[in-house]
Amino acid sequence: MPLVARNRRTPAITLGGLALLLAACGNAPPPAAPDLPARLSETGLFEPGNPERLAAGVTPYAPRHVLWSDGAAKRRWIRLPAGTAIDTSDPERWRFPVGTRLWKEFAFERRVETRFLEHVAEGRWHFATYLWREDGKDADLAPEAGVRGVRESTAGVPYDVPGRRDCLACHGSGLGPVLGYSSVQLSDTPEDAPLARRQAALGYLHANCAHCHNDAGPLRTLGLDLRLRPADAGAPTSAALTTALGVALRQGPGTRVVPGEPAASAVWQRMASRLPTRQMPPLGTNRVHERGLELIAEWIRAEGRADPALTPPTLSKGK
Ligand code: HEC
Ligand code: HEC
Repeated sequence: MPLVARNRRTPAITLGGLALLLAACGNAPPPAAPDLPARLSETGLFEPGNPERLAAGVTPYAPRHVLWSDGAAKRRWIRLPAGTAIDTSDPERWRFPVGTRLWKEFAFERRVETRFLEHVAEGRWHFATYLWREDGKDADLAPEAGVRGVRESTAGVPYDVPGRRDCLACHGSGLGPVLGYSSVQLSDTPEDAPLARRQAALGYLHANCAHCHNDAGPLRTLGLDLRLRPADAGAPTSAALTTALGVALRQGPGTRVVPGEPAASAVWQRMASRLPTRQMPPLGTNRVHERGLELIAEWIRAEGRADPALTPPTLSKGK
């Protein structure tokens, strides 16, 4: 069963790329993990009996570019086993020691779910999410298929808790499993205005799109690589620019990004849609992110102005 199709708002999608992604993730052995802790309190996030106090060794962090999840307020934490360190020798793919744990909390006025990632054995990760009890004292392991409409993110729009296979659609498609704790996500960016705007836009696409649209996962054949790499700094050679700016769509007429024209750009159009067969991202959201859309529109307009700050002479083609 295709994983995305289980979402009520997403009917069976027959398009080639999605089929590919689903084949890659959907045919993998189910990420069932019989030994998942039943309660969040057992994952070591909080001090025993006190969900308001972090356990020793648990550190909060915030990625520079965040994933939109229908307006959920998020908090994130990491814990490395004592005496270990992350191997950062490949800046594009940090290697986390066995025993690493990461948590991400989603709140709409009150805490709703806390997602959990644990590196249980070399190359093997557990994915789970925990649903907060009304009294806020603890959270319980969510069912494997997730929970639809667990709450409303805004009046009339249901918020869905993803199933464990959905985790893999994003965390298992090329860049993962850890997506937001990386050199790009924890680094600083320039102050220079046009370049900063471009970096913010590319960072947004990195955080919201690149876990599927990259050159390593099942969707690589689409040739759309929205990953921001540590060395890019928004240079004209950034993969996101070379695979999107002025590049024709793979399927059907249209262009991925038409410099200067947001409304004519498929990237903008698909972000502006919540039609299940059209929307981007295809899962994890039921509401358009207006500020993200405006950020992308501003950037697309700026690319049309050919600002010299965006095309430094050292990087332009021999001019
Ligand atoms: C969960 C995986 C996933 C995420 C996240 C995702 N996409 Fe996609 N995207 C797909 C799949 C699968 C296709 C191919 C099927 C289709 O066109 O609907 C696709 C196709 C596209 C296309 C058409 C490409 C072409 O050349 O035909 C564009 C443009 C696009 N996505 C933009 C985005 C943007 C922008 C984001 C982030 C805001 C995003 N996507 C996030 C899975 C994803
Ligand atoms: C639509 C894609 C998507 C889905 C579905 C998804 N995640 Fe994530 N997740 C991300 C992205 C992108 C980040 C990093 C950006 C951020 O934190 O805002 C992230 C961050 C996290 C983090 C913090 C560590 C990290 O990787 O940066 C945890 C823990 C996590 N997710 C767990 C889960 C679990 C468990 C599920 C399934 C129940 C899940 N996620 C479903 C995209 C997704």
